[in-house]
Amino acid sequence: MTKESRKIYRAHKDLCASVYLDYAATTPVDPRVVKAMLPYFSEKFGNTMSLHSFGQEAKQALEESREIVANLIKAKPEEIIFTSSATESNNLALKGIAFANKDKGRHLIISSIEHPCIIESAEWLKTQGFEVTKLKVDKYGLVNPEDVKNAIKKETILVSVMHANNEIGTIEPIEEIGKICKEKRVYFHTDAAQSFGKIPIDVNKMNIDLLSASSHKLYGPKGAACLFIKEGVKITPLLHGGGHETGLRSSTVNVPAIVGFAEATRICEREMKKEAQREIKLRDKLINGVLKKIEGSHLNGEPKKRLPNNINFSFPGIEGESLIMQLDFLGIAASTGSACSSEKLEPSHVLLAIGLKPEQAHGSLRLSLGRWTKEKDIDYVLEVLPKVVKRLREISPFKR
Ligand SMILES: Cc1ncc(COP(=O)(O)O)c(C=O)c1O
Repeated sequence: MTKESRKIYRAHKDLCASVYLDYAATTPVDPRVVKAMLPYFSEKFGNTMSLHSFGQEAKQALEESREIVANLIKAKPEEIIFTSSATESNNLALKGIAFANKDKGRHLIISSIEHPCIIESAEWLKTQGFEVTKLKVDKYGLVNPEDVKNAIKKETILVSVMHANNEIGTIEPIEEIGKICKEKRVYFHTDAAQSFGKIPIDVNKMNIDLLSASSHKLYGPKGAACLFIKEGVKITPLLHGGGHETGLRSSTVNVPAIVGFAEATRICEREMKKEAQREIKLRDKLINGVLKKIEGSHLNGEPKKRLPNNINFSFPGIEGESLIMQLDFLGIAASTGSACSSEKLEPSHVLLAIGLKPEQAHGSLRLSLGRWTKEKDIDYVLEVLPKVVKRLREISPFKR
């Protein structure tokens, strides 16, 4: 800890170690969700495939959960299959569609700012004889629907463009892209891991054929997620076995986690509108405050078409990792980008795709707000962050 940090720490000791601003990486499980899950560990512990009453009790909980999750996105319950993570759902969407439809064509389209689980799945498909087009984005991270239209060819079987970006929060023009895919008779998948439960989704209005979401991003437990697969979509499973989830995902069903996912979804549905308004107010206070207080600071991502809880700044002249460490000493948990890429110490592919130079991308900070973020947390960051950035710039080897 630097002398400056120690000084700030002493002045704000009461607030320190309590400001969690990394809700995009994962969220704490809501106590209401924990309560809903508890009976499914030791009392209602049956296997959903068992015919006796324990099994049937678990099966009923599973089907009720399916209905709740489907409702949020205006899908039918039978169009939802439960998986273990959005990573699994995205792998199943890309590989499952590719292998089931390879006789029609072997071409897929993704955007250049997708989560690594989409990019790496697409890269792997290339080794299996598929062709992948990666669409460029503009300086805000937006995909141009016209580019999607122009990239679709006779052999195209799937377009996958995320609903909202996990690093910069930009919300993509999903409805327009869905409309184009429908007209061109190409399947459309969207990774909604960051948007599900935070902003409205209607799979029919948006012409979505497949959609991935993950429980731990919306105050549910880790280990539960879903893939929406529109009725009639041809898909091959990745896991073969006992035929769970209509044969698309064999594995004994994780009932407590799925019940928790459903309860988390139900709470989000009820509170979404009010919570989004609350977070937008806090988000914009923090954005405006930082842009005013820190010279040379820059907001990454679309200023308006962005997730209610996402902020991503670049601070030229400093290194993001040092900033994260300093903020951590001061009790603020933040991130340089996505949780997956922050260990790699490579500049974020998302920030490079929106046109940042590697040194600008290295000086980035993601602050993601959530259900327990208070105005006093924002005030604390506004007090501390300018001092930390100033100090790091003074000692930085990149000093301008
Ligand atoms: C956009 C996006 N897709 C996929 C994932 C992977 O989700 P999971 O942790 O459930 O595998 C994440 C997690 O950060 C994400 O933000």
